[in-house]
Amino acid sequence: MTIEQKFIDQFVNVTSKAAVASYSYVGKKDKIAADKAAVDSIRNDLNQIDIKGKIVIGEGELDEAPMLYIGEKVGTNNGPEIDIAVDPLEGTNFAANNLPGALSVIAIAEKNNLFHAPETYMEKISAKVNEKGVVDLDYSTRENIFNLCEYLNKKPESITACVMDRPRHKDIIDELNILGVKIKLITDGDVSGALLVSDDKYGVDIFLGIGGGPEGVLASAALDTFECSFQGRFLFHTEEDKRRANKMGITNLSKKYELDEIVKGDSIFCATGITSGDLVSGIITENNKFITETLVTHKSTGLKKIIKKVVNR
Ligand code: FBP
Repeated sequence: MTIEQKFIDQFVNVTSKAAVASYSYVGKKDKIAADKAAVDSIRNDLNQIDIKGKIVIGEGELDEAPMLYIGEKVGTNNGPEIDIAVDPLEGTNFAANNLPGALSVIAIAEKNNLFHAPETYMEKISAKVNEKGVVDLDYSTRENIFNLCEYLNKKPESITACVMDRPRHKDIIDELNILGVKIKLITDGDVSGALLVSDDKYGVDIFLGIGGGPEGVLASAALDTFECSFQGRFLFHTEEDKRRANKMGITNLSKKYELDEIVKGDSIFCATGITSGDLVSGIITENNKFITETLVTHKSTGLKKIIKKVVNR
């Protein structure tokens, strides 16, 4: 089974309109309002698409998120059964402070083909590698870099690693420095960070470190189409985290997930720029119209493309 191509345009519209809605709040120092605008827009638009949709990754559990909560049914209930992962505003700080890299992101797959990730941290690794065993969460940073060098026929000094700038990554960053690897430190936005391995034009060979689990699942959907590698391992720090994981059916809390366990079958991924970033340009306004850029992937057709749209408000 595949997801019909007609849905590509519809989901590009969803994230494009959400990006435009959030854009009104760019630079207003109010990340909650910027997020809410995107959430409202996405929910409204998803409900007009002919699908039996279910949110598997959204704004949280029903008790904490009235909209786009995990398990919420969306769509007209007239069409294929679809699992939806959504991050209406990825990079809330970027939007609030008018910094590069704010995105509106969605990933869809057929029912039961998208991992139901809990709202917790995830140890992640992605690389420009289409082979198992080259990079791996169980290897040390040094081993990963040496293996990648051999695979890409490069020296460590020619490798660039993307890492989020967090104290928890001190050991990774120290090791990369010792090896002479160039580091691209990002302050937020690791959906984009993980995807920078997908094309030579970004100049990033490997992404590693700990970020949000839901963001890991979203990035996986695109990385699958780009034929890059990804692994993720959830980190459960609190009893509440563990309770939620159990509720979602995760019994082995230290399991390392391969890309093909996170996303199966066909998928569509859309990321629209709100502010300009590495992946896509942000919104441009022209005569009351908004021009958006969306990175789109569709696994079954191999589509990987940036699509421009004109959105009226
Ligand atoms: P928000 O858009 O929810 O603010 O998330 C931004 C982000 O940088 C994600 O891309 C990343 O996965 C996560 O936060 C990292 O969390 P933390 O800031 O706690 O390290």
